[in-house]
Amino acid sequence: MDIAIIGSGYVGLVTGVCLAHIGHNVICVDNNEEKIKVLKAGGIPIYEPGLGELLEKYRKSGRITFSSSIAESSKKASVIFIAVGTPSKKNGDADLTYIENVTREIARNMDSYKLLVEKSTVPAQTGNRIERTVKLNLPNKFKNGNKITLEFDVASNPEFLREGSAIKDFMNPDRIVIGVESKRAERLLREIYKPLKAKMLVTNVATAEIIKHASNSFLATKISFINAVSQICERVGADVEQVAEGMGYDKRIGRAFLNAGVGYGGSCFPKDVDAFVRLAEKSGYDFKLLKSVREVNEEQKQSFIRLVEDKLWILKDKTIAVWGLAFKSNTDDMRSAASVTIIEALQNEGACIQAYDPQAVPNAKKMLKGIKFCSDPYAAAKGADCLLLLTEWEEFKAADWARVRDAMRQAVIFDGRNFLDMKALGDLGFEYYGIGRGHV
Ligand code: NAD
Ligand code: UGA
Repeated sequence: MDIAIIGSGYVGLVTGVCLAHIGHNVICVDNNEEKIKVLKAGGIPIYEPGLGELLEKYRKSGRITFSSSIAESSKKASVIFIAVGTPSKKNGDADLTYIENVTREIARNMDSYKLLVEKSTVPAQTGNRIERTVKLNLPNKFKNGNKITLEFDVASNPEFLREGSAIKDFMNPDRIVIGVESKRAERLLREIYKPLKAKMLVTNVATAEIIKHASNSFLATKISFINAVSQICERVGADVEQVAEGMGYDKRIGRAFLNAGVGYGGSCFPKDVDAFVRLAEKSGYDFKLLKSVREVNEEQKQSFIRLVEDKLWILKDKTIAVWGLAFKSNTDDMRSAASVTIIEALQNEGACIQAYDPQAVPNAKKMLKGIKFCSDPYAAAKGADCLLLLTEWEEFKAADWARVRDAMRQAVIFDGRNFLDMKALGDLGFEYYGIGRGHV
């Protein structure tokens, strides 16, 4: 099938490459000319494991092409996925400006049937708004003096991939959700995804939109729940890791997304929780549970900052090593990373930060000022009064900890992800603090 993807970011590019991989012809579109230039030249504007190889393969074979023109690409495709950003407004609403702009442009260039698919995460009712926008912007076409009515459908096909494992998630989804209002749209989407042989749930558009918000919000709730439990564990001498394990063996609960830490970040959970709270508010429901999820998440970062402040005593002119800046491992994404809040708070107290991240430094440089960025973890640890582990990159586990200890001025570690072996570090002479698992 000929498919256009509007928006070539973390989701758009992965969707494009994976759809090419399962046999479709894909045009990836973005209004960021620089991005398109990089992609056409064989480059890749983001870090996502496995994406570069597939992109190269299908770019070479011609199955995936790139364009900065919605007009040109939407004419070639019968199915158009919209994967532009839907950031938060100040009041928490999803900002749907990009969605409206793209919809208008698609409509104005329509010359035959099109299926517009919401891939971006959008609040319920967006499907109706897209439909209305298309109708308002369709060109007037006449044949023998009679106005031709151009047909189109709007569908919702939310994306559940995670950054860092995006290709794997897309190719092996737990489910594919298709929100449609016509048989034609359902048939097209079923056809597109057939090679994935995945569980498919067909609903109406509003239901699919809510499934996405409810899923992200539920996962955020799980994280805040275990983070709240971690606070109690810390106070009563319990170990939150074992609590999560013990809970997780219950199939009704599951172990996934019960990792206590410095709170969830990223471009999705914070914004999608906000948007769901706002959607609820507008529909007349006060979603108190989700508001608490958000509060617990903020409090978790503050509690970590307080712990560091308490154990370091005076922060002014102390050197703090930070390992990991990205909002999670295996990505270069810094959007709403907990590291930003934590680092800025410690800088405000006069601490000097030496940071290392395997992939996120270029993005971090745009967001954090006054930091010494280091090219390896040992350089970041050199002369430090403590080390904060903020992202669970696998390479940190394999560090030469005796070397780290000897490089530091004080061997103190704050493990914001409960990622390291507390006992082994204690044996090596480190003072170790985790989240809800005590210290050695
Ligand atoms: P992103 O910022 O990485 O990519 C969005 C792209 O859209 C950018 O490259 C931007 O230049 C482009 N764009 C904006 N306006 C445009 C226009 N008028 N024409 C063409 N291109 C335009 O964002 P993302 O992380 O890929 O997220 C996109 C959507 O997918 C969001 O709604 C997000 O909530 C949702 N989502 C993201 C993830 C994820 O892991 N990142 C997962 C599931 C769903
Ligand atoms: C999340 C969802 O997992 C995806 O299903 C969804 O498609 C995506 O949002 C989206 O809508 O954009 P992502 O943000 O890429 O994916 O990453 P996650 O692995 O979910 O992690 C989100 C945040 O929660 C990270 O900061 C991570 O460190 C944190 N987290 C995750 C925890 O603190 N504890 C956990 O147990 C799990």
